[in-house]
Amino acid sequence: MKAIHYSANGGPEVMTYGDLPDPVAGPEAIVIAVAWISIEGGDLLNRRVTPPVRVPFVPGYQASGTVVAVGERVTRFKVGDRVVGFNWNGSHAELFEVPEHYAYAVPADLDLRLAATIPVAFGTAHDSLFEYGGLKEGETVLVQGAAGGVGLAAVQFAAQAGATVIGTASSAERLERMQLFGLHHGINYRTDDIAARVHEITCGRGVDLVIDLAGGKGKEALVQSLRGHGRYAVVGASSGDLPSFGFFELIRKAMHAVGISFGRDMHTPRAHRLLADIMHQIGDGTITMPIDREFHLSEAVEAHRYVADGHPFGRVVMKAASA
Ligand SMILES: NC(=O)c1ccc[n+]([C@@H]2O[C@H](COP(=O)([O-])OP(=O)(O)OC[C@H]3O[C@@H](n4cnc5c(N)ncnc54)[C@H](OP(=O)(O)O)[C@@H]3O)[C@@H](O)[C@H]2O)c1
Repeated sequence: MKAIHYSANGGPEVMTYGDLPDPVAGPEAIVIAVAWISIEGGDLLNRRVTPPVRVPFVPGYQASGTVVAVGERVTRFKVGDRVVGFNWNGSHAELFEVPEHYAYAVPADLDLRLAATIPVAFGTAHDSLFEYGGLKEGETVLVQGAAGGVGLAAVQFAAQAGATVIGTASSAERLERMQLFGLHHGINYRTDDIAARVHEITCGRGVDLVIDLAGGKGKEALVQSLRGHGRYAVVGASSGDLPSFGFFELIRKAMHAVGISFGRDMHTPRAHRLLADIMHQIGDGTITMPIDREFHLSEAVEAHRYVADGHPFGRVVMKAASA
């Protein structure tokens, strides 16, 4: 099969397009003929900082397509089924092996291109807001990095749940566009004082929940924006720097910090039910994910560069042979 692979961490240029052996379905796994690959924020973070577990290493969390092989203990899928799958690596390829418990059926009314963007972004956003973030109707949430994949999913879910939604992005155009997705108040993280704006918007009260997708130094303003006993969901580090919390930072506001790892929940029946419901909501247009740009798998270097530097709105996808 054709695949993208690398042997050492670094920028997009460490990736090569070439031939690798086809994956074989393990007893509890399926192999997907890949149609569409969604480039996830975590794919970039892994390429930069996570040492490859084997080389050559095929990156990528998530892709949709058609099942072409099933392991002997697989019960939920057969050859020909349309699915979207997750694995800790391997999606940047024409064939993608995923454990059955990380595979999700794609309803007939949902196209595979959009389906490729669903499990990680929408599942992470939903769990960060509700399962672990405890967001309730009438509360206020601040989403740092709101115009990316997880961010836009979070904005839509939070607005749908009757929360007041504050989001940050790098330009006024992006913040304005997010209003169509339910954003109530936009803050430009490059030019505005986030904590001061939140203070204004919440009449000094602070937000109930922070969803931090960017990490790094921006975290200090997010902590300042939180009310006493507020909740802080530590989700991502798209700024390129990992966040860390000081002792007094945590206790000054009796803050609840919760780490999110949707990958630890994705195999559970709860997550399967949640994702099935989300796919139906996306199928009927209640919520969506804008696809900013398409590339071919062979253009992965350019595609990763665009995701890192081009400020895409929503998701960037790559097309593989079976699309
Ligand atoms: N813990 C988990 O289970 C989990 C699951 C999924 C993703 N993640 C992580 O969550 C993060 C976001 O994922 P994603 O897929 O949504 O990524 P994405 O689509 O690439 O979006 C990242 C967003 O971060 C914003 N950003 C970058 N630097 C920023 C800064 N200094 N301050 C504020 N915002 C900044 C960008 O906004 P602008 O373009 O407007 O600058 C961009 O919209 C990634 O780090 C990913 O690894 C974690």
